[in-house]
Amino acid sequence: MSFGLARGRQLDITGIGIESADLPDFDREPIIDPRAWFGDRGSLPLEIEIGSGKGTFLVQQAPHQPQVNFLGIEWAGEFFRYAADRVRRNAITNVRLLRADAVEFIRFRCPDAICTVIHLYFPDPWPKKRHHKRRCVQDQSLRDFHRILGNGGEVRIVTDHDEYWQWIEEHAGRAADSFTREPFERGGPSDEIVGTNFERKYRREGRPFHAMILRKR
Ligand SMILES: C[S@@+](CC[C@H](N)C(=O)[O-])C[C@H]1O[C@@H](n2cnc3c(N)ncnc32)[C@H](O)[C@@H]1O
Repeated sequence: MSFGLARGRQLDITGIGIESADLPDFDREPIIDPRAWFGDRGSLPLEIEIGSGKGTFLVQQAPHQPQVNFLGIEWAGEFFRYAADRVRRNAITNVRLLRADAVEFIRFRCPDAICTVIHLYFPDPWPKKRHHKRRCVQDQSLRDFHRILGNGGEVRIVTDHDEYWQWIEEHAGRAADSFTREPFERGGPSDEIVGTNFERKYRREGRPFHAMILRKR
């Protein structure tokens, strides 16, 4: 029996969802190339979404870019399973979901220059000062993002949280030797920027967003 998001349905993540517990032991095989999870399609460009939640961005974006592979990394088991099942139900072949801490996976397990875009949409703001170290944007994580991006690759960031935005701007400023900062103005259907669940929810509430692209120098 499944509860919560599954609403009594058994979620099936076969062929789509990868649990970090099933990855090779770090001691035996520290570096893992997620492009291998796409089988014959593994040589196509890879984009990574950090904190993919219910998978709304992936499910709407991936079918528009069939020549790109998308990896969503989500640490909450319920969201991970829901998103992977949703990808399978929609018969989307260019998406995989990994259940893991994305920041750690990128830092410790990803090879250099494996992706073209890192999507970071409405990351948890962790507003309490003692929790700031849990934020996905840190000096170290920006160095790691830079390492796994190919030439000209980009990090796309959107948040509604003013104080986190200030934090991101400060970190981007310190990383100016590694990234150029560009505006992120993409408009999707109904003027959505990226169309994630949180964007739709906050848009209904009339909250303004902040967005930037950090392009690898
Ligand atoms: C506020 S939600 C936004 C979800 C989605 N991006 C959206 O815009 O609808 C943040 C998501 O990121 C996930 N998350 C936060 N930190 C993470 C990390 N280090 N690794 C993987 N997932 C993370 C949370 O579990 C949550 O699902």
